Amino acid sequence: MYIALFGPPGAGKGTQAAVLVDELGIPHVATGDIFRKHLKEGTELGQLARSYMDAGQLVPDEVVWNLVADRLGWEDAARGVLLDGFPRSVRQAELLVDWIGDRGLSVAALTVPDEELISRLSGRRTCMSCGATYHVRHKPPAVEGRCDRCGGEVVQRADDSEETVRARLETYHRETAPVLDFFRDRGLVTEVDGTGEIEAITQRLRLALG
Ligand code: AP5
Ligand code: MG
Ligand code: ZN
Repeated sequence: MYIALFGPPGAGKGTQAAVLVDELGIPHVATGDIFRKHLKEGTELGQLARSYMDAGQLVPDEVVWNLVADRLGWEDAARGVLLDGFPRSVRQAELLVDWIGDRGLSVAALTVPDEELISRLSGRRTCMSCGATYHVRHKPPAVEGRCDRCGGEVVQRADDSEETVRARLETYHRETAPVLDFFRDRGLVTEVDGTGEIEAITQRLRLALG
């Protein structure tokens, strides 16, 4: 079962993926999370990714694909994965579709208006240790500044500043939205309303993914 959870920055990909992978028993592969892990560990890949992430731009396709192709080869990925934040360019989508071949891919696309995305991202807080996400209004941690899941420090992501959020949205509309047409042409997309209660959206995704 190969699933791509698609949507603009702040659409709720990470929030929904965390619930769905538990239910489906497949790994959650989020390229942004992998880059942040490298950044935290101070690797060369982390340094490279940072220059793009801080500017709200896409990390080059070859760099991203090498990482994803490697991850798809791990033993735990044999029964499928839930991709979050990948693919984000038509080139990445072509590489993925070639790799998957006839194994079957479902794309669930969360739709959320831009104004709502900006409000979600500006209020988002992220655990520096495990990556869990919170929101100052919609989903605050039980103890302010502390992660419910691991007790780690909960802070604002560097690229959630207003200026970078706008750049990320522009990049999305210019480079990532065309990926949806690429998948639509192949009959792989189910669009899911990404607004409303988090639980209600999870239920819509369950139905969309069968
Ligand atoms: P990445 O980490 O993937 O960021 P993103 O796509 O911009 O998406 P986000 O993680 O910001 O949003 P999300 O959809 O996961 O929303 P969330 O669930 O957190 O990528 C970061 C960077 O890495 C990119 O800019 C790029 O540079 C690079 N990169 C990554 N992948 C790449 C690739 N494939 N190719 C090239 N470069 C790549 O929710 C957001 C907030 O809203 C949270 O606070 C949450 O609590 C809240 N919320 C969620 N649902 C609801 C709801 N229903 N109602 C109210 N609030 C809600
Ligand atoms: Mg995310
Ligand atoms: Zn945590």
